[in-house]
Amino acid sequence: MAISLKILNNNPYKPVQGVIEDIITETSDVKTFVIRLSKKIIFEPGQFIMVYVPGVGEAPFAIASPPEETNVVEVTVRRVGDVTNALHRLTVGRIVGVRGPFGKGFPLKELIGKDIVVLAGGTGLLGVSSLLWYIYLNEELFGETILLYGVRTPHDFLRKRDLSIWSKRIEVYLSVDKTNGCRWGGFVCLVTDLLDIIGVDPERTYVLCGPPLMLKAAYYKLVMDNGVPPSKIYVSLERHMKCGLGKCGRCMLSNGLYVCIDGPVFRCDQIPMREMM
Ligand SMILES: Cc1cc2nc3c(=O)[nH]c(=O)nc-3n(C[C@H](O)[C@H](O)[C@H](O)COP(=O)(O)OP(=O)(O)OC[C@H]3O[C@@H](n4cnc5c(N)ncnc54)[C@H](O)[C@@H]3O)c2cc1C
Ligand code: FES
Repeated sequence: MAISLKILNNNPYKPVQGVIEDIITETSDVKTFVIRLSKKIIFEPGQFIMVYVPGVGEAPFAIASPPEETNVVEVTVRRVGDVTNALHRLTVGRIVGVRGPFGKGFPLKELIGKDIVVLAGGTGLLGVSSLLWYIYLNEELFGETILLYGVRTPHDFLRKRDLSIWSKRIEVYLSVDKTNGCRWGGFVCLVTDLLDIIGVDPERTYVLCGPPLMLKAAYYKLVMDNGVPPSKIYVSLERHMKCGLGKCGRCMLSNGLYVCIDGPVFRCDQIPMREMM
């Protein structure tokens, strides 16, 4: 069934039309969707879009492709519920609706010139992928950049082709919680243990994205154990969302900030510590 979505550029509640141009299987429950939009968008690293599956509903996803003016965006999606299962059932050529880009991304003015350590766990890589692309494409603007990325088993790494490209200009450390009998030449440890392997330097800037347990462990290790000031740590948060526009209150943090418009990227001294746990 062909469904056409009307394009209304000036109404943020109305999606633009997107055609699924390609689908890449990442793991048994994660796929990347390459979506050609009916109009160009410009987005900042760290921003997200709302993807609407006709007849089912919509959900927020980080834009994982390089931040540039473009009408082709990539989202990498883990299958967890109604919308994401419906998205996984779509095939190339099918139509979705796309709203956005939304939210505040990474504050590039604060990051430029800094040595940066990006710590990502599981699908947390997706929240920092566009930042890593930005750093990769503008290497001369940044100091040393290190990516620490951990997943459960060697089968669970996402966006492996990006990891291989980034590793030409970014130092990449990969870890798995367990090998599950697979051949694996990288680290076997929690991703936060990689911080001990590279050594925590309070002069560096840290960027975190991952599950709450990872955020908590990383925050304790950085701030409590090693004296990194919270003002040098940025986190990209995930919360349930409905409108994406600061209207419905669904994503409000305990200090009244909204993840959809004030985030998803926050500096850690600007949010209560419990929001990371
Ligand atoms: C800013 C932002 C960026 C995101 N980027 C990505 C991405 O790049 N790739 C990706 O796979 N997912 C991403 N997510 C999470 C994604 O939006 C949810 O997995 C999706 O909304 C689930 O919709 P559903 O209808 O399939 O599942 P539902 O039926 O709504 O929920 C299924 C399960 O997932 C949980 N869940 C739903 N939404 C969230 C959420 N926002 N945070 C935590 N748990 C949730 C529910 O509690 C439930 O247990 C992002 C979320 C936010 C807020
Ligand atoms: S999703 Fe509605 S206020 Fe944030």
